[in-house]
Order: sequence, then structure tokens, then C-alpha cells
Amino acid sequence: MRPSIIAHRGASNFAPENTLPAFQLAWEMGADAIETDLHLTKDGIPVLIHDETVNRTTNGRGYVQDFTLAELQMLDAGAKFSAAYSGTGILDLATFLQWAKPKPLKLNLELKNNKIDYPHLEEIAYEYVSAAGMLDRIIFSTFNLDSVKRLGRYREKTEIAMLASRKALDVYALAKELQVHAVHIKHTLMKPALISACHKEKIAVRVFTVNTEAMMLQAFNHHCDVITDKPGTAVRCLGTYIK
Ligand code: G3P
Ligand code: MG
Repeated sequence: MRPSIIAHRGASNFAPENTLPAFQLAWEMGADAIETDLHLTKDGIPVLIHDETVNRTTNGRGYVQDFTLAELQMLDAGAKFSAAYSGTGILDLATFLQWAKPKPLKLNLELKNNKIDYPHLEEIAYEYVSAAGMLDRIIFSTFNLDSVKRLGRYREKTEIAMLASRKALDVYALAKELQVHAVHIKHTLMKPALISACHKEKIAVRVFTVNTEAMMLQAFNHHCDVITDKPGTAVRCLGTYIK
């Protein structure tokens, strides 16, 4: 199987993370999939942003969960990255799904519920994807192991992945116990023993965040998918690797 290139927060090295320009660029660069992060607004709408607060990536201040969608949409999520992107807004999940639907892209929706465990985020995200008719193109992932368990009820309908970044976790044992389809591991966990154990059980392994060609080649050698801020580089690197 050819490894997949997953654009991390879109082509986030080149455009403001988790915004439409970053997703559009990822698509144009030839990514197979797009990874993005989900939080819930005050009015219960899933929105695409990485942090619990809007402070780092927008011109606003405060927790995402304290803004309504309409209030969040007034913020500028592009200018801090570069003046060229000023006026770029925060996207809600429904709009993102509409944008992706006509394109043969897979989507990795990372539920950002490891710091704030938003009630019902799993069901809400699942219902949006189901309503869009896109369950066969989604990978739900989270660092929150309780949430991975809760996502288990959708295992037959869509793909579930557990995220891992800590060396202390027994990733393979947890993946088996939680019956996930995939593990998304930090690059520091990219070890042959873990990868081959997972592959023997048909558990896919994806590595984040892989931004150098050396690390991309290492992942391809291990038959792992890569989650990268530089999808264009990964596409070129994979082309050379396969030849
Ligand atoms: O989903 C992979 C990666 O995005 C997890 O870490 O902090 O970039 O969301 P983070
Ligand atoms: Mg993420």
C-alpha cells in the first residue's frame, strides 16, 4: 500500500493553520488527506481551531467555548500568520465538509477534548459527518483515551484512531484494547517494534509531525502514513521513494 500524505492543519507551513487557504493549498499540493482540530463553541457548533483559546492564532482573546459561532466568525485567523492572509476567518465543521465533499480527500478530524472534555463532542462531530454522507472518508482521532472508548460505538461505520505522544504509554496494548483502526504517533515513537506489531494486527500507523525529508523517508520505509505541515515536500519525496 502506498503511504498517505496527510496535511497537518492544512498546508500549515505556508498558510494560516486550520483555515480554508491552508486546506486549499494542501489540496493543490496533492495531499491525500487533511488533518484538522475540533472544539465546540458556546452554542455547541464544532469549529476548526487547534488551541482551547483563540489567543495564539487570531486577533481575539478568550476560550473558544465562550464564543458563539457568530462571534468567532468576526475574528481574524489569518493576519497573525501573515498580513497577506488578513481577513481569513475561522471555519465551522459543516462548511469544511461542504468544501471537501466534491474532492477525493480523506479528512482526519482530531477531537481536541484532551484538556476540555466537551460533552457529546463525539456524537456531535459524528452527526455532522453522517449528515454530509462522508463517514467513509473520515478518521476520528483524539489523545483522550476515554473519548477513544466512546468513539468505539462508531467503529463499524467510520475510522477511529488513538493519538499518542508520550513514551510511557503502551501504544500497542492500548490500540488492541480499544480496538482502534489506527494509531497516530509522535515521530519520537516511530520504532520498528511498535510499527510491525501494529501492522501485524492490521492497525495503520501514522506519524506526526513529519516535516523533514529524512523523517519522511524513515516513515515510508516503515510503511507509515505521514502527517505533515509540508504536504508538497512529502508528495515529491514519496514520488522519488517509489521510483
Ligand atoms: O493529529 C496529529 C497532531 O495534530 C496531533 O497534535 O497538537 O498538532 O494537534 P496537534
Ligand atoms: Mg491536530
